[in-house]
Amino acid sequence: MNGKLLKIGQISDIHIGDDENLVQGIDVRANFQKALCSKSMEDIDILVLSGDLANEDGEPGAYRFVSDQVKDLKVPVLVIPGNHDRLETMAKYFDLEGRIHGGKCYFKYEVSGRTFFFLDSACGTVSVEQLEWLKSEAAKVEGEVFLFMHHPPCFCGHRFMDSKYSLKNKEEVQAAFESIPNLTHIFCGHYHSHFELEMGRQKVHVAPSTQMQIDSNAPHFVLKSSSPEWMTIEIGENFVETAVYLR
Ligand SMILES: [Fe+2]
Repeated sequence: MNGKLLKIGQISDIHIGDDENLVQGIDVRANFQKALCSKSMEDIDILVLSGDLANEDGEPGAYRFVSDQVKDLKVPVLVIPGNHDRLETMAKYFDLEGRIHGGKCYFKYEVSGRTFFFLDSACGTVSVEQLEWLKSEAAKVEGEVFLFMHHPPCFCGHRFMDSKYSLKNKEEVQAAFESIPNLTHIFCGHYHSHFELEMGRQKVHVAPSTQMQIDSNAPHFVLKSSSPEWMTIEIGENFVETAVYLR
């Protein structure tokens, strides 16, 4: 698109196991590589890994694999934890220096004149400290600001994920976001399904997973696809456009 300032690759919910064994019958390592090496990623300016890099509980082999895969990329790689990650283990494989405060990974990143905030929802909530920090830091920014977090801050219409694994303090988080006038777009993962939603003035983009997609119409877990899917985000002076890819 003309006027593009910035292109972001977002890969989410990779769910790598500790070793090379298949995860629930899926070659999650190959799935991740398909996303990372796809043509859609060739011209990105930054890569965001939006949580659940590890399959179950922060397996070191997951971080070893992912960090090794991205180490030669020519662009910054920004990582936040999901509910299956362990921050202290992640920090051994990714440079999170200055980004961990009180055991939570949250930070601000500026690129091409745009400001991005990253929050830690790994425990299923976003802490008050993070919300207060976000409010005060966003107030210092003149233009619009963008946000990444693992959990969507609202229900998405995914019957299984909404009922079992949605963000626990949605109301508190939504009230905080609502009070930030220049927060326009929120990018998440966690739901293993792609959604684009309006949340008041804000748009919520939920990236699919490279591990697998979960059927959003079923009230219990139903596998929709074990093909990897991922997202790119293009930002210009007057637009934000996302695209979803699959293999
Ligand atoms: Fe998750």
